[in-house]
Amino acid sequence: MKSIRAFAPATVANVCCGFDILGFAVDNPGDEVRLTLRDDDLVQVISIEGDGGKLPREAEKNTASVAVLSFLKSIGSKQGVDIELKKNLPLGSGMGSSAASGAAALVAINELLGNPLTREQLVPHAMEAERIACGSAHADNVAPSLLGGFVLVRNYHPLDIIKIEATESLYCSLIHPHLELKTEDSRKVLRHSVSLKDVVTQTGNIAGLMLGLTKPDYALIGRSLNDVIAEPTRSAFIPGFDTMRSMVIDSGALGFGISGSGPTVFALSETLAKAQAVARTVQIEFEKRQLKADVFVSKVNPLGAYVINE
Ligand code: HSE
Repeated sequence: MKSIRAFAPATVANVCCGFDILGFAVDNPGDEVRLTLRDDDLVQVISIEGDGGKLPREAEKNTASVAVLSFLKSIGSKQGVDIELKKNLPLGSGMGSSAASGAAALVAINELLGNPLTREQLVPHAMEAERIACGSAHADNVAPSLLGGFVLVRNYHPLDIIKIEATESLYCSLIHPHLELKTEDSRKVLRHSVSLKDVVTQTGNIAGLMLGLTKPDYALIGRSLNDVIAEPTRSAFIPGFDTMRSMVIDSGALGFGISGSGPTVFALSETLAKAQAVARTVQIEFEKRQLKADVFVSKVNPLGAYVINE
């Protein structure tokens, strides 16, 4: 039976000022899938490792199978497939866990069927998986997980996704406190209207960040990594957030914020040494608050999901 493994990386959505419209991929952690073609038309999740039994096994509810079903329907295929999922990403972490499973499954099925779709064309199918996972088909995790690097979602209807020609000399620190926060819940606390003043601030920052990333201008990146829309309400879920932010910025990192919908926080730095030091500083702050925290430090990953050669 034809079988293939694929990996898709964790992602940082929003990147402070780009709520629902900007994200980037990191090298690790990430999720892995194995897809095996079947003789019939059944799509099924046959095993999930690493989720503590929490994820749904039904094909219509699991993000990997939902993405595959949407893909198969779009190309008019009746191919059946068995899906084995290895979750390395913690659930409800804000590191794009549901997105990575969908992205890995899509890269695998696309490869198995001779790559009928481009990476960009896979994005809407991964978004369907996000809709199932959290009720919102946002693309700021799935697009960077599939395409790598920084990806801008300029528009949703119609979908307009642009991979930014960003500097690759950026290091990300991810610090994941052992708390679970569902994206669905974290979206419920968002304000539904924002003031004109906040819109002006946020659009200035997102424009500045885009320019800073492409020039590159690290000081401009740093000045732009601020969020006046989601962070003010969401940071309340993250013990010590304001203290950590001040410490990280004072230590010379470019910026600090909530990764996606949290509770993971992230920082961007110009050097690996700084990114590692920042990660440890934040980890200690969580520990002071009786929270264990895992840290992941890597360069921004320019490639995104890939097929694992065996
Ligand atoms: N943009 C989404 C949100 C990302 O902030 O709700 C979720 O990971």
